[in-house]
Amino acid sequence: MEKKALAVLASGRGTNLQAILDAVAAGQLRVDVRVVISDRGDAPALDRARQAGVEAIFVNPRQYSTRRDFDRALIAILQERKIDIIALAGYMRILGPEFVRTFPRRIVNIHPALLPAFPGLEAQTQAWRYGVKIAGCTVHFVDEGVDTGPIILQAAVPVLDDDTPETLAARILVEEHRIFPQAIQLLAENRLQIEGRRVRILPAAPDQD
Ligand code: GRF
Repeated sequence: MEKKALAVLASGRGTNLQAILDAVAAGQLRVDVRVVISDRGDAPALDRARQAGVEAIFVNPRQYSTRRDFDRALIAILQERKIDIIALAGYMRILGPEFVRTFPRRIVNIHPALLPAFPGLEAQTQAWRYGVKIAGCTVHFVDEGVDTGPIILQAAVPVLDDDTPETLAARILVEEHRIFPQAIQLLAENRLQIEGRRVRILPAAPDQD
């Protein structure tokens, strides 16, 4: 079966991108990472992409007068490269409805909380402040809301009494790096069936290779 083409959008340090690249190198994630796009020219994620021999593109939001124009620039890049799956790996900009509708059920995001609790920014700090005893992360489909799309995978971690937001975030991050590549592999294998808000994980087809 031909490998699906993956694009990763990232705004920052890119450890989730790295987990994807490492999973591909290890043969656990069977996709073609075709392009990494960032809205920040100085994002370490772009360097990680180049290191791995993946095309790295900075799209400068300041060059576009509206979000729509910026999104259209992204859409053009993705369509030119015939991208099948888009992974948001610490991408800090909200994608507009046109973008989301162009790639239905093909965009996934990693969020560092057990959704629907603590959507939005600094989710780990929100969870720590709230005092929950279990925290975690979620991979979900992207819809037109913020962190609201159907949930694909989640992983939980304990919150310890002497945690700081930083130590909690580090524990969650380990799980992010594990479940994000897994969820992308499931999508690449067409094993995710969306039923309303629920995502059913279908069994692996025999003779995948
Ligand atoms: C991660 O915590 C992710 O869950 C959130 O943004 C952070 C990105 O980290 N969406 P990195 O750039 O992948 O290291």
